[in-house]
Amino acid sequence: MSFELSSERLILRPLRPGDAPALAAYRSDPAVARYQGWVLPYSVQDAGQLIAEMAGRVPGDRVSESGGWVQIGLESRAEGVLLGDVALNTSGRQAEIGVTLTAQAQGRGYAAEALRALISHAFGSLKLEQVRAEIDPRNVAALRLLLTLGFRHTATEYGGYLNRGEWTDNAVYTVTEEEWLT
Ligand SMILES: CC(C)(COP(=O)(O)OP(=O)(O)OC[C@H]1O[C@@H](n2cnc3c(N)ncnc32)[C@H](O)[C@@H]1OP(=O)(O)O)[C@@H](O)C(=O)NCCC(=O)NCCS
Repeated sequence: MSFELSSERLILRPLRPGDAPALAAYRSDPAVARYQGWVLPYSVQDAGQLIAEMAGRVPGDRVSESGGWVQIGLESRAEGVLLGDVALNTSGRQAEIGVTLTAQAQGRGYAAEALRALISHAFGSLKLEQVRAEIDPRNVAALRLLLTLGFRHTATEYGGYLNRGEWTDNAVYTVTEEEWLT
C-alpha cells in the first residue's frame, strides 16, 4: 500500500531507496542529530536499511502491538528534492510524531507545514484522539515548533531518558483532536 499527502510547498510520501544518500547526509550532520536518538556516524547503508524497513508502511499502521514508527519523506514540490522527514508512531488511539529537516531547509516553515498536514491526517482520516511529541527541553527549535502548532506541555521526566550515554530530560507535549480543531 502507498500513500501521499500534500501541502502548499511539500509532498509527504514514502521514503524510496534513492533517498538513502540524502537521508544519511542530514542524519550525519551533528547539529541535526544533536537531540535525536540514532547512532552516529549514520551511513548510506544505515539509511538504506531504514528505508527498506519502511517499505509498504503507511501512517496509522501499528507495526507492533506497542506501535512502530512510520518514517515519511518530505519532498519539495518546486525542486523535487528531499528536505527531511516526518514520522508517526501510532499506538491505540494516540500517535507520537517526529520531524527532521536538513540544515538548509530549516527556518522556512517547512516543519510546521508538514506536521500540520500529518496531524490533520491523523485526526481527520485516521480518527486518532491525541498526538504527542517527546523532546529534550534544550531543543529550542523543536519546542518553538510544538508551541506554534498548539501543543501543550503535559509532562517532563527529569533525567529519565538515556541518549547516547547521557541521561537527559524528556518533555512531553500533547495536542488533542478537540484542541486541533478549535
Ligand atoms: C525541529 C526542527 C524540525 C524545527 O525546524 P524549523 O525550521 O525551526 O521549523 P519550521 O520549519 O516550522 O520553521 C519555523 C521558522 O521558520 C520561519 N519562517 C520563515 N519562513 C516561513 C514561512 N513561509 N512560514 C512559516 N515560518 C517561516 C519562522 O519564523 C520560524 O522561525 P522562528 O522559530 O525563529 O520563529 C529542526 O530544528 C530540526 O530538524 N532539528 C533537528 C531534528 C530534531 O531535533 N527534531 C525534533 C525532534 S521531534
